[in-house]
Parts: sequence; C-alpha cells; structure tokens
Amino acid sequence: MSRIAYVDGRFVQFAHACVHVEDRGLQFGDAVYEVWAVRHGKLFDEQGHYARLTRSLGELSISPPMGMNSLSIVIRELIKRNRLTNGLVYLQISRGVAKRDHPFPAHATPSLILTARHANPASADAKAVKGIKVITRPDERWGRVDIKTTNLLPNLLARQAALDAGVDDAWLYDRDDLITEGTAQNAWIVDAQGTLRTRPATHEILRGITRQSVLALAQGAGFQVDERAFTRAEARSAREAFITSATSFVTAVVEIDGTVIADGRPGKLALLLRQIYLQAQNTA
Ligand code: PDD
Repeated sequence: MSRIAYVDGRFVQFAHACVHVEDRGLQFGDAVYEVWAVRHGKLFDEQGHYARLTRSLGELSISPPMGMNSLSIVIRELIKRNRLTNGLVYLQISRGVAKRDHPFPAHATPSLILTARHANPASADAKAVKGIKVITRPDERWGRVDIKTTNLLPNLLARQAALDAGVDDAWLYDRDDLITEGTAQNAWIVDAQGTLRTRPATHEILRGITRQSVLALAQGAGFQVDERAFTRAEARSAREAFITSATSFVTAVVEIDGTVIADGRPGKLALLLRQIYLQAQNTA
C-alpha cells in the first residue's frame, strides 16, 4: 500500500510530496514540529501536543494554518488513508514560502506538512525490556529549546556521537554539569532517596508531553516526584534512570558514560511507569 502525505491542504502520494525551495523551514529552520505516537490506532496525548504546538507557533509569531479541531480531522484522515495502526504522525509548520531574506515576510502563508510512518511496537517494547545506554555530551543548543523548532543540529551531532561511541543515545549537560535532557527525550532518575527527579520545564528543556503525563501518573500513583535538576554524577549513581518521549514512551537507561546503573537491568519504577502510561493512553 502506498504512503500518503498531507501538504498544504492536499493529500498526496508520499513519493511526490515536496516543499518549495524557498520554504523558510528549509532555508532557515523557521518552523516548528510535533510528533504523535499512534498505538492500536490511538493518538497518544493528542491534546497535549496540540497545546504545545499552539504555544510553539505563538512564541515564533507564526499563525496556525488551521484551527486545532480541523487539524485533528486532517490527522485522523491521514491515519485512515495510511491504514496506520502503530507508528508515528509527524507535523511541521513553517512560516511559509518567501524570497530568502531574514526579516519575517509580510505576506507568506504558513505551510503545513504531515506524514505518517508505520513502526513495529514489538521492537520498541523489546528495547524497553533491555534498556538503553547513553553517553553525556555538552548541551550546545540555543536558549529557547522549549520551543519545538526544527533546528536540531546539536541534537543530531550528539546522537551521532553516541552511535559512533557504540551506545544508543546521549544525555546533554549544561555549564553547571546538570543534565538538561536527551537528544529527543526528557531525562529522569530515581535518586538515592527513591524520589523521581526530572529537570523543571524552563527554557532549557523541551516541555515533553510524555513527561507531563508520566509526571501526573506518577504523582497519582503516590510516588514522590521532584522537578529538580540532577548532576551527571547523580545520574551515574542513581537507583534508576529513564527517558520519556512520544517515540520511547518510558524506557530505562541502564548505562551512562560506561557506568552501569544499579544492576544493569531496567529499574522497577521505569517498567511500572511504562506500563501505567501505556494503559492510561490505551484507555483514554
Ligand atoms: N522528540 N526533548 C526533546 C529535545 C525532544 O525532541 C523530545 C521529543 C522530547 C520529548 O517530548 P514528547 O514527550 O512530547 O515527545 C524531549 C520527538 C519525539 C522527536 O523529535 O522525534
């Protein structure tokens, strides 16, 4: 079956989907994006992603190309046309097409692209059973990573450095040696006191939608949660470490910079929170 994309108001064959050479997303990274997980035909954290999208657009003064209710209809149609049961929906909105020049163009119409991608849930689940290994890298990103822009070069460099080092991913740290987040996930630990720790959602991290849901679920289940940054040393000596994101849900980190976390197997809390999160989304 052929893949279908959505580009500026039209469903098109994926192979023929394209943007203009002077799209500002392409020229300047003047664009925002969102990623939704789809499992068993369900969009995970659907509303949370719309809320963050609205915020990202507002922060960059890009007008939404359509209202969020209309967008949800288009996304459902995209899922249907791609017969997507498990996978991802990717959205990107750029400021539009205009002669290449730095100031915001006076009359550009924001462009919207959507794609859907199949993914085998069994491979993500297998990864969660095993856990992932990370290295730490300096966070070299700009000061507004809370806006979900397509400017991801430092993230890509850190991810590639991790792969070159033979591990799965990288956690980024700031000038005070505090972990900010992963290359495309929020970072968490369970500290020596058994408290769940994750950095507060300031301008230094992306306000992960999965992070928000997991935080609420963990609090609801009676776990101690502290939105407080942790150092690299605290991460290495943590009882547990894990990541949250639309693509990983909750996945344990079992090694940081070559240091094995606890017994080297995914921690109990990480596994439990993954289960609670998947259950909550499936029944939402
Ligand atoms: N990444 N931090 C960063 C830097 C991210 O890029 C992401 C998401 C997250 C987690 O956010 P959420 O829980 O809303 O997915 C945190 C997406 C999945 C990506 O770039 O593919």
